[in-house]
Amino acid sequence: MSSITFAAAERLWLLSTPNSAYALRLADDDTPTHVYWGPPRSLAEVTALPVARPHRISSFETLPDPDELAVAAGARFGPPSLAVRFADGTSAVEWAYGSHDISGQHLALRLTDRHYPLAVTLHYRVHDDSDVIERWTKVSTDEPLTLSRLDSANWTLPGTRVSYVAGGWSAEYQVHRTPVPVAETVFTSRRGITGHQANPWLMLDAGDADEDHGEVWSMALAWSGSWRFTLHRDPTERVTCTGGFGHDGVHWELGAGESLTSPVFAGAYTRDGFGAASRTWHGFVRSHVLPRPDELRPVLYNSWEATGFDVTEAGQRALADIAAELGVELFVMDDGWFGGRRDDTAGLGDWRPYPGAFPNGLRPLADHVHELGMRFGLWVEPEMVNPDSDLYRSHPDWVLHQDNRRRTTLRNQLVLNFGRPDVADWAFEWLDRLVTENAVDHFKWDCNRPFTEPGWPDHDDRFWIDHTRGVHRTMRRLRASHQGLRIEACSGGGGRTDMGIMAYTDQVWTSDNTDAADRIAIQHGYSQIYPAQTMGAWITDCPNPFTARTTPLLFRCHVAMAGALGVGGNLTTWSAADRELVAGQVALYREIRSTVQFGRQYRLAHGPGLTVVEYAGSDEAVVFGWRISEAFGHRPALVRLAGLDPVANYQDSRTGTVHTGSVLQERGISLDLPAGDHVSVLIRLRRVS
Ligand code: DGJ
Repeated sequence: MSSITFAAAERLWLLSTPNSAYALRLADDDTPTHVYWGPPRSLAEVTALPVARPHRISSFETLPDPDELAVAAGARFGPPSLAVRFADGTSAVEWAYGSHDISGQHLALRLTDRHYPLAVTLHYRVHDDSDVIERWTKVSTDEPLTLSRLDSANWTLPGTRVSYVAGGWSAEYQVHRTPVPVAETVFTSRRGITGHQANPWLMLDAGDADEDHGEVWSMALAWSGSWRFTLHRDPTERVTCTGGFGHDGVHWELGAGESLTSPVFAGAYTRDGFGAASRTWHGFVRSHVLPRPDELRPVLYNSWEATGFDVTEAGQRALADIAAELGVELFVMDDGWFGGRRDDTAGLGDWRPYPGAFPNGLRPLADHVHELGMRFGLWVEPEMVNPDSDLYRSHPDWVLHQDNRRRTTLRNQLVLNFGRPDVADWAFEWLDRLVTENAVDHFKWDCNRPFTEPGWPDHDDRFWIDHTRGVHRTMRRLRASHQGLRIEACSGGGGRTDMGIMAYTDQVWTSDNTDAADRIAIQHGYSQIYPAQTMGAWITDCPNPFTARTTPLLFRCHVAMAGALGVGGNLTTWSAADRELVAGQVALYREIRSTVQFGRQYRLAHGPGLTVVEYAGSDEAVVFGWRISEAFGHRPALVRLAGLDPVANYQDSRTGTVHTGSVLQERGISLDLPAGDHVSVLIRLRRVS
């Protein structure tokens, strides 16, 4: 059971989760102050805790109590979480306690400014089944003011080493682990989307954690637009992280009577290393983020790598026929089916079937796919428009633009402003119509460029927030109007992967890089926070269109089967033997997918010589082993499994031999990988008693 308790005399709140505790109190001047975050503690233990003070204080070395939401006021010189400018030019906030409510597992702590009609509510929420603590902030005002920062939360952390992911298009989620500099370190996206270059989560540890051991403090932001975390380690060793939506340099005007609520910036304290931290987040995403966590993700086919823009009804039917034979359950027609879209220079925005390819509309293809026993999915990119389109010719004002400035095109496209309700409504209407008229079961919602010339004349930077909210709202409306409709989040692969978008989608297109060898590192980084059931992974052709690398088909299958499996090759060119091999692996995946998608994930080894990932469910464990390159002809040592019942018996699918969970965990198994590069193994261990 998780709970929130209040010690009135000390003005202290204790948040308890199954395996952690978090405490805050009001200082004498009503500042909400951090007290504790770590292993479970009693109220008596935390009320007795003194505020941690630095060794020496001088006029130059001030160190206020650690703030729950840092403001620019008094002798504070760290990064503010909340920065306002009132109409008279005053820019500091001085807190006054208002009230608080604990309703079930939610605490709302209401504060005001000592002088100005500003109200700020700090929200905290805990859950019985999770160690994740959700935090967010709401600001309201009775007089106009300007906000130049509204973060969701400021976390105070004992860790001095930070883990994060960085990368780029087709190289997302590369894990980095480094000491926190004694400095302010900014992790951010200024692109209007979450970004391929960084992802909004961090893990902190004392430098002593590894995959299986050690305390980890982690944080993740549920937001799909620009964001910023400032990790601050000061010379007295205090480490804080303030984070929220928006990047540096933006501001939001708040009129009298208006309010602004931040997204959730959640945190988790865990023991047992980075692996346990990841499993905590996987569980949280399943239980508290995804709209349909229990859905067995279908095996999908996607036409992009097969046809590019060369889409025709006959071509798609031919692919669908073979996909159905392979055991695919959802057929997704990618880009190129609409408007005058024969390449990426024209047609985006004109969401009617291209008559040259679909003379009778999409319905005949959709019906054919349904008759084959598959669901029907469509690629869309609702936020984008080519200047060469009927839409842009009739609504040039709908795109992000600024007076007297060029309209920067990227991939020959401009961004439609979903901060405008009329634009978001227009998108909802055509998406809704597409579903109704064509029995569409699934949208792959793409977004192929970052934002430039943000906003529109005479409007302030609220665009940065309103656009993202417009996207989320449109997805929510579509789901509400069409029970069962699935949405796949995509932004040139993983450019918009976050817990904000996951609240409205079912899976993510992980990366445009489908090279199985590269994918091992991409999937490793993805798994740090996000669960396998959301991680789209396709079996594609070789040489890989992105890297020109050739790897064995079985290796490609095994890499893709570690996530939400898809097939993305040009099936019409596949040999009978390749089709048979993939049909067999698809059938196998359908047997093991509940373990892969819902099991607990253990990263047992990671490196070019050997990567091993295990998914442990109640009746079975599935182990994938991949070797990218073999050095010196060395064979890997035994691999110790995890997450098994030590006294249960498990049968190895390869040999039929039975071992106790304890033997598998303490002695380990041999993977028996074949010799050479790009080899793999999939082992099922079924619980037999
Ligand atoms: C980027 C996506 O990530 C690809 O899978 C594909 O849908 C293309 N866009 C289509 O333009």
